[in-house]
Amino acid sequence: MTTGILSAMAQEQAGLAAHLRDLRTERYAGREFQVGRWQGREVVLALSRIGKVAPATTAAALIERFGVSRIVFTGVAGGLHPSVRVGDTVIGTEFVQHDMDASPIFPRYEVPLYGRSRFLADSVLAECLAQAAQAALQDGAVLDEATRMRFGLPDSQRVHHGLIASGDRFVSRAEEAAQLRAALPEAMAVEMEAAAVAQVCHDHGVPFAAVRNISDRADDQAHVDFGAYIEDVAGRQARALIAALLPLLPSP
Ligand code: ADE
Repeated sequence: MTTGILSAMAQEQAGLAAHLRDLRTERYAGREFQVGRWQGREVVLALSRIGKVAPATTAAALIERFGVSRIVFTGVAGGLHPSVRVGDTVIGTEFVQHDMDASPIFPRYEVPLYGRSRFLADSVLAECLAQAAQAALQDGAVLDEATRMRFGLPDSQRVHHGLIASGDRFVSRAEEAAQLRAALPEAMAVEMEAAAVAQVCHDHGVPFAAVRNISDRADDQAHVDFGAYIEDVAGRQARALIAALLPLLPSP
């Protein structure tokens, strides 16, 4: 089985390719796909790019061209739920496109002609991610004391499970975040890709799960916090997380 590993931006996948054996890079659909083996597992790394459409193209290529049999998305997100703090991790159990609105023809959030507004993570893959996230948090090199001080993180970080909301917007106003919280009170985090990839995986019957480290609170400060976090922390978190994840995956 080949595992596709996606992140939106290069900083969120920094250093992962260095772990691959028998690495080869293939270009397809204007993207680079890095194919190799890590801990004896076949993996394909790719950058999804940002927003909903580009990641859908990348996910379809992973499935159709590279034959991956599961896709994992790792990266950062804005924290939405009051309990989710910067530095925490959110495991997506379901995904909604918060900017999908074909009402009054279809109910708000429903993806037209799918009869549903939410796509589900594969429960086994999501559980593997949760265990990997716990292990990664215990790796002191990821959120070391200097990093905690710099980002004002509390002593301990939590792993949450729940709804991830995706849309073609970087949410960087407290007022917009409050509106999203009011409309989707159970949403834990907001980002721009996972719900699109979940829909593609649903179409192809390919197991999907996503894990997001919280880089910001989707408020007026979000663009500053996000920029610092992806440069300094996101790559470390991704490396620790994927290294912990691979041995947990169900079959070779
Ligand atoms: N990814 C990380 N932070 C985000 C935010 N505030 N809005 C959308 N995507 C994000």
